[in-house]
Order: sequence, then C-alpha cells, then structure tokens
Amino acid sequence: MKAFTIVDQSTGTLRPNEMPAPPAPAEDQVQLELIGTSINPIDPLVAKGYGAPLLDRKRQGPLIPGRDAVARIVEVGKGVTGLRPGQRVLVAASPRTGGTYAALFNLPRKCVAPIADTLSDATAAGLGYAGLTALQALAAAGLSADNARGRRLCINGASGGVGSIALVLARRWGATLTAVASERNQDWVRRLGADQTVDYRDPAAMAAIDADIILNFATPSDGHRQHDPLLDDLLRRAPTGGAYVTTSTPVLGAVTDKGVLRGLGTSGGIYLKKRLAAHRAGIRYRWVLFKEDEEKLAYLARVFADPDTPTVVSASQPLDALPEAFNDPKGPPSPGKGVFMVEAP
Ligand SMILES: NC(=O)c1ccc[n+]([C@@H]2O[C@H](COP(=O)([O-])OP(=O)(O)OC[C@H]3O[C@@H](n4cnc5c(N)ncnc54)[C@H](OP(=O)(O)O)[C@@H]3O)[C@@H](O)[C@H]2O)c1
Repeated sequence: MKAFTIVDQSTGTLRPNEMPAPPAPAEDQVQLELIGTSINPIDPLVAKGYGAPLLDRKRQGPLIPGRDAVARIVEVGKGVTGLRPGQRVLVAASPRTGGTYAALFNLPRKCVAPIADTLSDATAAGLGYAGLTALQALAAAGLSADNARGRRLCINGASGGVGSIALVLARRWGATLTAVASERNQDWVRRLGADQTVDYRDPAAMAAIDADIILNFATPSDGHRQHDPLLDDLLRRAPTGGAYVTTSTPVLGAVTDKGVLRGLGTSGGIYLKKRLAAHRAGIRYRWVLFKEDEEKLAYLARVFADPDTPTVVSASQPLDALPEAFNDPKGPPSPGKGVFMVEAP
C-alpha cells in the first residue's frame, strides 16, 4: 500500500513509499482507509526527533506521521462497539499513536467518531487533532457551551488551525472574542466570528487587550517562547474569573534535551511555578496536552456538520502534494487548515 514515511530522521524529510498493509485490527482497534488528512505543526517536529524519548519508544518500522484524517472503516476489532465497516469517521490520534499518512492504518477506537453526511470530506480532513486541542483548551479555561456567553476571550494565534476552530466554537457558545493574528489574516478571523482583531506586530494594540481569558495558540517563528506579555498583563490586571491556557509547552523540548525523567521533572517544575504565580493573582493557569477523546470528537463532528458553521479550510490539495508542504520549513499551509485529499479536489 502507499504510505508517506520519514526517510531521513536527521532532516525529517517525508516521501511516498510502498509499505506492507497493516495486520487485522486488534480487539480495541479499527482499520481505516484514508480519504483526506492535514499537517499539524507537531508532525514535522516529531519527524526530526522532537519528543522522541517519550513518543517514539514503541515504534517498529519507518515513522508514518499524521495526526488527523477523514477515513472509512474497513474492519473493526472484536471488542469495538458502535462502529461498522463502511462508515465515514473523523480521526484524531496523539503523537504516541499510529500515523494517518497511509492508504490503510489501524487506530484505537477512542481515536475515531462517526460523521454525518452533511460534514464534507474536506472539512473533516483537518478537523480532528486541531479541533480536539481547541475543545480541550476551552475546557481548561473553564468554558463550555453552557457558561461562555458574554465571557471576554482573547485567542492568540487565532488564524492557525487550532485558533480558527477555537474561534468558531467560542463564537457558537456566545463569547465576546478578540482575535490576535497577522495583518494578512485579519479578514479570516473576522469571518470566523471575531468581534475585535489585533495584529501581533502592533505592541500598543497588544497592550490594550483587556480580555479576562487568554487562549494562546501562537507559534512565533523563533520557537516556543516561555514568556508571553499577554500573560504578564493578565496577572497584573487580575480580572475576576481570569484564565490563561496555552498549547505551547516546554514538555517535549525538555524531554528531547534531557531524557524522559529529567525532561518531565524540569517542565513540571516550570508549570508549577507559573501556576502558583497565577494562583496568587487569582488566575487559572493551564497547559493543554492533546488527549484522544471519542466523545469530544463526536461533538466536533456535529458542530461542523451544521451548514451554518463557517469553514476553517483555506486550501484543499491532492494527497500527492503532501510531501512538498510537509517538507516546507515555513510550516503548514495557513490560515486555518490546509487539507490533502486522496481523491483530487
Ligand atoms: N500541546 C498540545 O498537545 C498541542 C496540540 C496541538 C497544537 N499544539 C501547538 O499549538 C500551536 C498552534 O497549533 P496550530 O495547529 O494552530 O498551528 P498553526 O496552524 O501553524 O498556527 C500558528 C499560528 O501562530 C500565529 N503566529 C505566528 N507568529 C506569531 C506571533 N509572533 N504572535 C502571535 N501569533 C503568531 C500564526 O498567525 P499568522 O499566520 O496570522 O501569522 C498562526 O495562526 C502550535 O505551537 C502547536 O505545536 C500543541
């Protein structure tokens, strides 16, 4: 079968390859046929060995990246209930689980959720991993469909994959939204529901942000920063019900540099220190680490099957274009999600 694999881990280069088909799915697994997928920033990093001491311990054979997909069920394991062959599903897998860049792949049941006919292949292709992360970040901030109405939320990195989906969800839940994005993506975030937009290259506008809750999904080109002026400002203002949640954590970097135990110890120390400082100011401080979750996946599938939900897909390309985009040092196609489809769009 055709798969896309990392041929050289020193460069992290992705290439098409012929691979043996996977075995029949284990008891708690499903076997899936790829329809479409996307690139998440973690994959090109993992391809170069980032996080390997933690993520790569059980891998046998070449690395197949890919964290999300829309796929069709080929076969279900004996212990799997509620799914059947032929169903179309939304897929999201953590970097510790198998990759989706293959014609056929096996994943645990918790990585998939069935989808309605009204959810298009293109929308579903890039929704799972970024969408679950967005939902988990909103939950970490204490927000839900029941309590978000009127809450003042700022999304930093709002034009990216995770940020775009978080904007759509928070708009649907009735939050008041400030979106931080580059100048060229201001129209994009406005279309997804931002009430106000701020260009992160405008320090005065950044300093004037007065939201109570900050979700940080920004990926500055100079790497994952440990210092965020938006957090400092939130701690200084200390609004009632304030929260700061970030997906940018030092965990995998520390594990890569220091090994699993020392890396987890170092990053755990950083987390506790920051959480304590925030706690003293009455602010909830959280890191988000993606977690597989079939129920939240099913929720995402329902939201994006609604014809009134705006699309977060900015480009749809044939699957053969995947290596070129993956190997591009500028990162995943933006804004929102760029997707790669088996059947050429
Ligand atoms: N912890 C976890 O489990 C987890 C899970 C998923 C993702 N993540 C991380 O979360 C981040 C977002 O993921 P993603 O898929 O949304 O990435 P993405 O699609 O590449 O988006 C990154 C965003 O960062 C923005 N950005 C770049 N430089 C910036 C700056 N200086 N200030 C503010 N924003 C800036 C970009 O905005 P413009 O394009 O407008 O410049 C872009 O919208 C990534 O760092 C990713 O690794 C973590």
